This record gives sequence, C-alpha cells and structure tokens, in this order.
Amino acid sequence: MQRVFSGIQPSGVPTLGNYLGAIRNWVPMQDTTDCIYCVVDLHAVTAFQAPAQLLAQTREMAAALIACGLSPEKCVLFVQSHVPAHAQLGWLFNCVARIGWLNRMTQFKDKAGKDREAASAGLFVYPNLMAADILAYHANVVPVGDDQRQHLELANDIAQKFNHDYGVDFFPRIEPMIQGVAARVMSLRDGTKKMSKSDPSDQSRINLNDSDDAIADKIKRAKTDPDVLPDNLAALDARPEARNLVGILAAVTGTTPEAVLAEHAGKGFGAFKPALADALVAHLAPIRAEMNHLLQDPGALDAALRRGAEKADAIAAPILARTMDIMGFLPRR
Ligand code: TYM
Repeated sequence: MQRVFSGIQPSGVPTLGNYLGAIRNWVPMQDTTDCIYCVVDLHAVTAFQAPAQLLAQTREMAAALIACGLSPEKCVLFVQSHVPAHAQLGWLFNCVARIGWLNRMTQFKDKAGKDREAASAGLFVYPNLMAADILAYHANVVPVGDDQRQHLELANDIAQKFNHDYGVDFFPRIEPMIQGVAARVMSLRDGTKKMSKSDPSDQSRINLNDSDDAIADKIKRAKTDPDVLPDNLAALDARPEARNLVGILAAVTGTTPEAVLAEHAGKGFGAFKPALADALVAHLAPIRAEMNHLLQDPGALDAALRRGAEKADAIAAPILARTMDIMGFLPRR
C-alpha cells in the first residue's frame, strides 16, 4: 500500500521553486493515492517568525496550496501544529537519531551560517521532526525537491535504527520522489543558489502572488550572460543562469529543456526573456487570482484546515500510541 506525505514551511509565500519542484507534483497524486499534505508551522519557527506574520503566512500557504489544485476533499490538508503526534514522535526520534548524523546535514550548515552557536536547537534537530512528520502516518512516498534528499535519507536511518533497536518491523522504508526538470529551480540573481522563500532579495525569486508586472520585471532583471542560446543542453553546463531559465520555461510549458532550445537556439536573452515572462504570467495569474479569492474568507479556510487536522490526527494518534507501546511506556489507558 502506498501513502504519500509532504510538507511545506509557511516561512513566506510559496515560490516558483516550491511550485515546480514540489506542489505541482502533489496535485495529480491525490487522484490515485492516499495523500497527506501539511503546512509545517513547527518547522517554520526554527527561525524567528513574527507572530502576526506566521499566522498570515500559514493561511497564505494553505490558500496557495488549494489554488494550485490541492483539494481538501481529495487529500488530507492541515497545519502541523494542530496534530500533536508530530511534536511527540519528533521528541522520540530526537532520542533515536545520533548527533553525528545531524552534524552531517548540509542544510543546517547553510542555514546556521558562520555562527552555529547562535542557531536554535530546533534548527539542529529539525530533520528528526521531519522524519516524524512522515513516519507518524507510515507514509512511504515523499514528493519533494532535490534539496530534501539528505533529510529523507536521515529519516530512513531513523526508521531503520528504531526497527533494529526494538526488534520490530514497524516503520516503513521511505521512497523520495524527486521529479523532473524543475527539482532544483535556482535563484534569478545567482544560478548556483537555489530559489528560496527566505532569500533576503525578493528579486531572486518569483512568488506565487507576484503581479504580472512584478513577474515580467523580475525576469527582465534576472541575471544572464551576453551569449545567444545554444542548440544543445550540454552547452549550458557552464551557464547556470541560462540553464535555469531554460529549465523554468520547459517546466511551465510542460516540455523539455531540449525542446525549448530547439525553439530558441540562436536567440539572445532580449528575445527569450519576454517569451519566458509571458509563459509564467499565463501559468501563474489564475493561481494568484484563486489564492486571493480564498484569502477573502479566512473562516472557511481555517475550517477546512481543522477538518484536515481531525483526519490526520485519526491516522497519526494510533501510530504514535503503538510506537510508545513498542518502547515500553506505561499505557495511558
Ligand atoms: P520547504 O518549505 O523549504 O520547501 C517545500 C518544497 O519545495 C521544494 N523546493 C524546491 N524545489 C525546487 N527548486 C527549489 N528552488 C525549491 N525550493 C524548495 C522543497 O524541496 C520541498 O519539497 N523540510 C521541508 C518541509 C518538510 C517536509 C516534511 C517535506 C517538513 N516535513 C516531510 C517532506 C516531508 C522544507 O523545508 O521544505
């Protein structure tokens, strides 16, 4: 049996990277598989979030997910902090994972930066909570962008160590699903850095609620090089910004980078960028409109998320209870 789980942090409005690398792949799966999608607010507070902003961004994220095509009727869509099993299993996994494993996490090193000592303890143990998010549902398929690969390996190490230490076959093996040309969408200002909600420069990313003009302007100013586009992908190996823009156009128009190059070979960016901006605007404008529409009725949005949390809790609470039985905790009743 397959069960899908994935999550996204409400640490800003979702970017084109979140959309193309993850959210867009979540949508078709809800028609064929048991899917659980979560706005991971407990993860967001590993870095300080102003309270009013966390609240607004949590609703914005939920609205964006629904606007992108997730249906609260077809999948379980909820907010992480509404289901206590995440934090509880996360604690138990803090006691399974080894410090040495966490020390190897490249995302911690990137996010903590030079002053590791000043990072929150939550940021350090974050991958354990992420493992709990997935394993609290015995989910075994996790659609994510490429940057989450190492965290999913760690989740498998935790599951395996738990099963081994307690002599059980309880937690399943997790299969990462990292798909397509857009598994790694890069910053518009630096083709070697991933596009991120938390980048200080808004020019580095397309947000799903950017206006048509903002999208066109950001593409126009995106860093490129003076050369024309080649007719083959290998020729873009040393041109990360060009390769990124070609990949984005391929992803939004549902084609391949090779096909994009076949059409645009010999053109400079003066000609290519308007075509890319038009394709992005055509794709994203309806999503933005639906997102704004949903945000006009926060009560309905909150109610849908609370129903989602009830469904999620009904799956996760018994799995947490069995985990605690296996570990030898005194049963509550
Ligand atoms: P987050 O919120 O950073 O990103 C959400 C999803 O978007 C993908 N993504 C990208 N894909 C392609 N190009 C990019 N530039 C890009 N930026 C982000 C991410 O890979 C992710 O799939 N730790 C996770 C959230 C999480 C989670 C989980 C995911 C918490 N628990 C359990 C899966 C399962 C995160 O910070 O994603």
